[in-house]
Amino acid sequence: MSTVSIPTPHLAAAAGDIADIVLLPGDPLRAQFIAETFLTESHCYNTVRSMYGYTGLYNGLRVSVQGTGMGMPSMSIYVTELLRFYGVKTAVRIGSCGAINADVQLGDVIIAASAHTTSNMNRRYFHGIDYAPTASFSLVRAAVETAERLGTKHHVGPVLTSDAFYDDDVETFQLVGKHGTLAVEMECAALYTIAAREGARALCLATVSDHLIHEEFMTSEERQTGFYDMVKLALEIAMATAS
Ligand code: HPA
Repeated sequence: MSTVSIPTPHLAAAAGDIADIVLLPGDPLRAQFIAETFLTESHCYNTVRSMYGYTGLYNGLRVSVQGTGMGMPSMSIYVTELLRFYGVKTAVRIGSCGAINADVQLGDVIIAASAHTTSNMNRRYFHGIDYAPTASFSLVRAAVETAERLGTKHHVGPVLTSDAFYDDDVETFQLVGKHGTLAVEMECAALYTIAAREGARALCLATVSDHLIHEEFMTSEERQTGFYDMVKLALEIAMATAS
């Protein structure tokens, strides 16, 4: 859409309202929680569709936090508008995932090096080519170094970005799991593809909230603690990679 300019259809921010680095939780109330808990001098720049976005300071570094909603179409809208129209340079998703690898445990953080997908969005966009959505290496490296420093249990590898949350196709999970895939989530492939298109850096961190092989689930309290630790990790990655 070449006619789009600031403010965009889904973001009401003025030019300069959004920081160079943005954390992307799916849930907009988590964006609010992060701003209130981790940032100083924060202000809300977006309430369109209640998809809250905030900018504030973390140890002096200007950081924004923007809800994206769930799934590739919703992620695609927000990340395109952030990168293309607001000039965001680095986007870090902070989400949850379901593990499909026996060595991965509830509460571990997946650092997604790449993302396979069940979605048809990229196949259509790339004229049938099986494009490989990939994380930015500098962010993966910083994520590993920061996770080691903070003592966060983590795994680096591919995820499967699925179009369906309620999916009984265990065979597919086992098949991609046998090919080294660690977990299933719903947004990473869109984030990596669009970041590459827009010349920006991107990373997806995802806490394991459920285990599709072991059939285990985090309690809501465990989810909250896991989320808190991942936000801390993401903000420290932002500090380590800020230019
Ligand atoms: N599937 C897809 N996305 C998810 C899951 C899942 O099991 N858990 C958390 N996000």
